[in-house]
Amino acid sequence: MSIAILYEYPETDEMGIKQTAKDMGIDLTYIPFRKISVSIGNGTFGFSSPSRDFRDIVGEVNAVLNRTQSKNRRLYASSIMEGLGKYVINPLEVETLCFSKFRTLVEFWKRNIPIPKTVFIPCDAHDRTLRGVTIHNEEAIADLMQKDLGSGSIVVKPDAGTHGNDVRLARNRESLVKFLDGTEPSITNPVGFIAQEFVEKWFYDLRIIVAKERGTPPTCYPTALARAGFKDFRTNTYLGNMVFGVKLPIKVQKLAVRAGEAVGQETEAWLLALDAMFNVGEDRFVDDGFIMSEMEKLLPSFDKAKDVKRDEQSKNRDFRLWSNSLEKAYGDYMSNDAYSKVKEIIEQSMDRGKDRILFHEANSTPEFWEQTRIIAGVNVAEPLLKCAKSVEGWSFYQKLKSYQ
Ligand SMILES: Nc1ncnc2c1ncn2[C@@H]1O[C@H](COP(=O)(O)OP(=O)(O)OP(=O)(O)O)[C@@H](O)[C@H]1O
Ligand SMILES: [Mg+2]
Repeated sequence: MSIAILYEYPETDEMGIKQTAKDMGIDLTYIPFRKISVSIGNGTFGFSSPSRDFRDIVGEVNAVLNRTQSKNRRLYASSIMEGLGKYVINPLEVETLCFSKFRTLVEFWKRNIPIPKTVFIPCDAHDRTLRGVTIHNEEAIADLMQKDLGSGSIVVKPDAGTHGNDVRLARNRESLVKFLDGTEPSITNPVGFIAQEFVEKWFYDLRIIVAKERGTPPTCYPTALARAGFKDFRTNTYLGNMVFGVKLPIKVQKLAVRAGEAVGQETEAWLLALDAMFNVGEDRFVDDGFIMSEMEKLLPSFDKAKDVKRDEQSKNRDFRLWSNSLEKAYGDYMSNDAYSKVKEIIEQSMDRGKDRILFHEANSTPEFWEQTRIIAGVNVAEPLLKCAKSVEGWSFYQKLKSYQ
């Protein structure tokens, strides 16, 4: 019996998971999920790449860490592996809920977990008739959105999106209609766009890690990654915002556990990264100018860490050495007085606003090696591997019927 990691390409996080497995003394097998063939029929089962047969490996594996990158491929990988009798982290049920932001929010809402008011309208901005005429639905969609969310600021975002792409803030009717006109469903975002109340957060939002191993209750990591910046209303890290490791108020940790349970459902083991914001409104107890000037002081050391991050050659030459250099670079950044000052402001703000937190997304395959691990001190590879270990010998597994 063994556990495996499955992916198309090894990126930083996958390399990190492998290194962590080595450090924890866990034997982690690799299963490719790109140029391979999965064959069934005539009482046989096959799983092979052009140069290698993975049939025995797949046959023996019990728990699979699904690290395929695109949401669609991930869904399918979970589905196939579960079909073959494996326990997948995350299970298909969890993956399916995470696929859609609206679907995730339905689970939060059902359990009274605070969320931003969100509207889903099952209609695309444009319809095309058989004769090639385009029918515009933007005005009708905007009417429905404003009926529920009012005529003020509205956030429009893809139901299945990542990295903050196409997340837009409409300040008035005109820009709302314009954004809607620019939306089209796609293969990666088949359901289209949702509208959300604009949350009056301050200059930061949160990425919180919650995990559940089989046989133990779910836990929330007490520190989280705060992503912070003033450039854009989107504060997520992909857009280059700064990051701070912050201690979460107990009340927030408890809510995060409930949010995790809402998405984890009844499954035995899972790991999720939850996105949350505080609706602080007017409670901005420090001048923005002061915070900006402190963040300005952090820029040189933050940029140095970014340079190390981008150094693909060093990363591919010696991953461990590169990881050590990155730790050192972020260590320098975190040792600044300005870092401690901004971190304290965020912690104070969370404490004052702990009753005004809103959860808005659950991510099933979070990036973690570079920032969550070093800045928030949460090496997500550890709980992931522990989750896989916890289900490794579980009786759920059937030997593959045709795998003799
Ligand atoms: N309703 C909202 N009100 C205010 N700000 C918002 C709202 N929704 C999103 N944001 C901001 O935009 C950022 C990106 O939004 P969101 O997380 O929904 O997009 P995403 O594509 O899932 O990004 P990621 O993959 O980085 O999580 C958030 O980090 C947050 O700062
Ligand atoms: Mg998000």
